[in-house]
Amino acid sequence: MHTERMKLLVVLLTLNCLCASIDVWELFGPKLKSSRSLETENTVHDYVKDLTVKFEYPLEVHKVISSQGYILTLHRLPYGRKATNTKRPRPVVLLILGIFGSPECFLFRGPQYDLPYILADSGYDMWILNNRGSSYSKQHTSLNPERDKSFWDFSFHELGIYDLPPVIDYILHLTQQKDLFFIGYSMGASIGHVLCSSRPEYNTKIRHFINFAPVTNVVHFLPPGQNFLFAILPDFARSLKAQNISELFPRRVLTGNIFKGMCQNGSNLQPLCMAAIFLIVGIDYKQFNPALFAHIFRYFPDGTSLKTIEHYVQILTTGIFKEYDYGIEQNRLIYGSDEAPRYNLSSVTVPVSIYYGAGDILSTKMDCEYLAKKIRNAMGLYRVPFRDFNHMDFMWATKARQLLYDPLLNLLNKYK
Ligand SMILES: *[C@@H]1O[C@H](CO)[C@@H](O)[C@H](O)[C@H]1NC(C)=O
Ligand SMILES: *[C@@H]1O[C@H](CO)[C@@H](O)[C@H](O)[C@H]1NC(C)=O
Ligand SMILES: *[C@@H]1O[C@H](CO)[C@@H](O)[C@H](O)[C@H]1NC(C)=O
Repeated sequence: MHTERMKLLVVLLTLNCLCASIDVWELFGPKLKSSRSLETENTVHDYVKDLTVKFEYPLEVHKVISSQGYILTLHRLPYGRKATNTKRPRPVVLLILGIFGSPECFLFRGPQYDLPYILADSGYDMWILNNRGSSYSKQHTSLNPERDKSFWDFSFHELGIYDLPPVIDYILHLTQQKDLFFIGYSMGASIGHVLCSSRPEYNTKIRHFINFAPVTNVVHFLPPGQNFLFAILPDFARSLKAQNISELFPRRVLTGNIFKGMCQNGSNLQPLCMAAIFLIVGIDYKQFNPALFAHIFRYFPDGTSLKTIEHYVQILTTGIFKEYDYGIEQNRLIYGSDEAPRYNLSSVTVPVSIYYGAGDILSTKMDCEYLAKKIRNAMGLYRVPFRDFNHMDFMWATKARQLLYDPLLNLLNKYK
């Protein structure tokens, strides 16, 4: 077991060096060229539209301005492919993506595989929020993401406090519904808990809060080296900060193609790609089809702020789900206390269901059990019934539908 991990580590380091030598600036850095106009720089090809056209689903695009001025994009599948009465009101589902996520991650495999299509076909009004800083939500009423560093001065905290409230209000107003189903995947679940603990009035606007692999308190103290990500992340974040980098992993065609070339079928490096990924999310060869590599890097990773990573580093190293720690002096000014305040999970009163993967090393069984105990209204804690189900399988498992989405559909139908 140990030598296996060491091997994987070497593999990942090799991969790292490779990426670094290819083009580290493309990967992490701000754009070097500033000659292109803002329009060109900020316009990404609209793959969401391509995919929904290809699979023949209706698509709507909505914009909501958050209370901090970020212009957020929502993608909506208002009904399914074969819907007859399209005017009938449908229960609303809002999906909040994980870190580096994009809507396409949940849309590119097609109607037999992907959650939004399955829910839309089952009579739900499906909405997906693009988190601020990602390709379709990299816009602001006054700040320029390419030039203004303050655009990137946010972590998942701000997404929960300032972005979700107007988004939820907008959807409820437009659909004339009084509440909605909220599905938070990974960071999406963190964001949901930030909202429900800090803005209690939103507990009544959510009918049921579904957690997929939530990241809140980290109670599973793994020995260093057991999760490679936990081991490298603090140094990684520090070095980027020292380089004044504030935007992380913006979507780039070139970087995507490099990863695709390395990982897709036919490449000798494919085993390295798999090993590198499994080192972070948990090892599950059975549920991951490597043929997906031909598509994944067009949509993943998508941009976020370095501060989001720093905030997670603080949570991973202290184990405590709390607000961003600025250091004692700043904390006193900002919070009126030496320490950053903890999110008060006892204020989360919405009914909550939690799904975890037994092979997930980012959000573990122990973490989820702890969360379920803290939440007053925890309705269910479900182990996805597959031994190695990992963090990534919530999106891309070959059998995600049978193992997770169909059971979820039963749960939604019960509460709708
Ligand atoms: C980072 O920015 C600060 C001011 O904002 C500047 O003093 C410093 O030299 C910059 N560091 C690098 C490595 O560019
Ligand atoms: C890629 O390889 C996998 C096995 O490694 C195979 O199952 C799949 O069909 C291949 N896909 C394509 C598109 O060639
Ligand atoms: C947390 O919230 C609960 C319920 O709203 C409240 O009774 C408790 O005092 C809060 N705890 C802290 C530390 O604020």
